[in-house]
Amino acid sequence: MLSIIVLGTAAGGGVPQWNCGCDNCRAARTSHAELRATQASIAVSADRAHWFLINASPDLRQQLTQTPTLHPRALRHSPIAGVILSNGEVDAIAGLLNLREGTAFNLYGHQRVLDLLADNSIFNVLKPALVPRIAITHDAAFEPRLPDGTPSGLEILPFIAPGKAALFVEETSANEAGDTLGFVIRDRASGESLVFLAACAALTPEVETYLRGAKLVFFDGTLFTDDEMIRLGLSAKTGQRMGHMAMSAAIPALDGLGIERKIFLHINNSNPALLPGSPERQAVEQAGWQIPADGMEITL
Ligand code: MLT
Ligand code: MN
Ligand code: ZN
Repeated sequence: MLSIIVLGTAAGGGVPQWNCGCDNCRAARTSHAELRATQASIAVSADRAHWFLINASPDLRQQLTQTPTLHPRALRHSPIAGVILSNGEVDAIAGLLNLREGTAFNLYGHQRVLDLLADNSIFNVLKPALVPRIAITHDAAFEPRLPDGTPSGLEILPFIAPGKAALFVEETSANEAGDTLGFVIRDRASGESLVFLAACAALTPEVETYLRGAKLVFFDGTLFTDDEMIRLGLSAKTGQRMGHMAMSAAIPALDGLGIERKIFLHINNSNPALLPGSPERQAVEQAGWQIPADGMEITL
């Protein structure tokens, strides 16, 4: 059995974002508290006792408080056995700082992302003796381990996602394969699996091979249209430039791949599909996609 908890659904900044007065952020602060969302992350488990986080969002502390399954069951304990990083953006790594305080877990990431952690000494608060950093490579499946070395029962296949280096190193680092990964996450016992692809700049034939026939896909839902941030006056960048394929392009592109359940993740606060009843939300739902809420649980 593969258990999934959607800890957070929003893109960097969350909903509402601290400095944003867009329609969605204003509604989330006032009349529509249900729009509030923390930054994207999921937890997965093969046994419901030991969990692996896919990315550690800056909102991790709040996410853990809100998720009883991930609460300690002893004076010093955590069901979190490890963290697997898909990229080095702030919204994927900053939550690691919440996991200090001396509990062991395994930290997996591409060497490109581990190099970013090494370059930022604040992450040394996670002592290597307790939190080993383990390099993963694309197209090499691995079984994440519990801190004592026990196999987790999960198998993770990382693959290259079209993307870019993290925003905070854009000026100093060229983009390289491995900056952004997708994951096929499988329960070894049942064979059930999902595809996690919360940042994807384009749908290449190679990426298609991982998505085709999948039972469950979490896909990049940052923007509804590529020029959304520009039109709203929020940014000068397109979604493509930020490493994100818009929903309006993803919906037709993933249609016909035989995917059973499609869920958008990493949804920016500017995205009009967040608002129930909006034409964009209707388009998303009519195309068979889901906009999730924080705390959603799925079992495969
Ligand atoms: C992104 O997904 O594009 C990044 O999270 C941007 C950011 O760090 O604000
Ligand atoms: Mn992000
Ligand atoms: Zn906003």
